[in-house]
Amino acid sequence: MTHKNKKNIIFIGFMGCGKTSVGKRLALTAKKNFMDTDFEIQKTTNMTINDIFEKYGESYFRRLERNLCKQIAFDFNNIIATGGGIIKDVSNVENLKINGTVVYLKSTPEKIYNNLKNNTTRPLLNNTADKLKTITELLEQRRPLYEKYADITCDVSSFDLDESVEFILKRLTEAQLI
Ligand code: S3P
Repeated sequence: MTHKNKKNIIFIGFMGCGKTSVGKRLALTAKKNFMDTDFEIQKTTNMTINDIFEKYGESYFRRLERNLCKQIAFDFNNIIATGGGIIKDVSNVENLKINGTVVYLKSTPEKIYNNLKNNTTRPLLNNTADKLKTITELLEQRRPLYEKYADITCDVSSFDLDESVEFILKRLTEAQLI
């Protein structure tokens, strides 16, 4: 595989674990194109994620996510940050893996809670009396899927942004994936 047609690098992981920040920084460092599935969905609908969930419901959002995964499956050389729920539909992962290496950003409920405690842009965490509990439960449900689909795992709970990017870049370079 030449430098020009490397596989995509797909970031998966729970909300608030840093997929967008790490992905953007990696793209900058590796001089690659960056894409964020939530951002693309907001751009094409001209709506916020909150509004999409509120007006049309989660299942409609998941349909948009599914269509996007189909569209980007055959791209290459992109760094793609995904929404935390992308792994709920196996067809998304199948599509993203057609031409992609999956990097799982793993974190703890406490760190995630800390990142999101004042955030109101995550509809699944907005109307809950106990945000930490909701994060803990949802992460428990999803953890097996993140782990199953990961080609590379980076524990971001013990790294800062630079260390995370350095770790991932090293792993990708060793495997000639970047
Ligand atoms: C979701 C995660 C969000 C966004 C939507 C649903 C989820 O993306 O797609 O609010 O189900 O985990 P981030 O992981 O970027 O926060």
